[in-house]
Amino acid sequence: MSRTAYVNGRYVPHDRARVHIEDRGYQFADGVYEVIAVVGGRMVDAAGHFTRLERSLGEIEVPMPMSRAALRVVLDETIRRNRVRDGIVYLQITRGTARRNHAFPPADRRPALVVTARDMTFPTDAETTPGVKVVTVPDIRWGRCDIKTVGLLPNVLAKQRAAEAGAYEAWLVDAASGAVTEASSSNAWIIDAEGRVVTRPKSNAILGGITRESVLRLARDAGIAVEERAFTLDEALAAREAFITSTTSFVKPVVRIDETVIGNGEPGATTRRLLALYLAHVRDPGEAAA
Ligand code: PDD
Repeated sequence: MSRTAYVNGRYVPHDRARVHIEDRGYQFADGVYEVIAVVGGRMVDAAGHFTRLERSLGEIEVPMPMSRAALRVVLDETIRRNRVRDGIVYLQITRGTARRNHAFPPADRRPALVVTARDMTFPTDAETTPGVKVVTVPDIRWGRCDIKTVGLLPNVLAKQRAAEAGAYEAWLVDAASGAVTEASSSNAWIIDAEGRVVTRPKSNAILGGITRESVLRLARDAGIAVEERAFTLDEALAAREAFITSTTSFVKPVVRIDETVIGNGEPGATTRRLLALYLAHVRDPGEAAA
């Protein structure tokens, strides 16, 4: 089936979708993005993604190209035109096109909006989802990892290290503290010796994941002990369980970190429980999807 993209006000065939060579996203990575899961044709946690998008845009002083309601229409229409039932919708907003100069162009320039959508296979069964291996790399990113910028070069390099090692993800480790910040495109979690679910608190050092937020809420609602605190790589290597969360990975068990097997090498019971809760949430998101 031919794919359709939305580019600055038009729906165009995907293979002919173009932006200008002086788009500031292309020249300076001067833009932000969102990836939203689509399950059963519906966006998962759309409100959370819109709120984070508006925050990212605010931090880089780019206006929303249209209202939230209008943006939702464009996203839904792109999903519909691509006949996506289960997959993702991707949106990217940059400061637009202008003659190359580092400082912002005049305020009359319109931000550029690009939207694509495509099928993707998600986990469907918490009991049979296999665990994955991750490798660790130094976190060499900048001081505003809370902004979901398209400037992803350190993340790209980290993920490539993982791919070369036959691993699913790269965990990023802060050299000064030995703490795990997050992963190249997901948030990192462990379950400590006391059975508490641990993930790093939101700060400029990590992207505040929307999946992270949902999993924290689902865990608390289910009476599972949760602690938002930094944890070190040493602690992770000795953890009972480990996992990652993201829009595309949902809750993914981690059974090996570098050469160390986590727990008994199988996805842990608490991780499986959290994945089951998350699967129920994406199938019937309730109010959070509004
Ligand atoms: N990545 N941390 C980083 C660095 C990320 O890039 C992502 C998401 C997350 C998880 O956020 P969320 O739960 O909102 O997806 C954490 C997306 C999926 C991507 O770049 O493709």
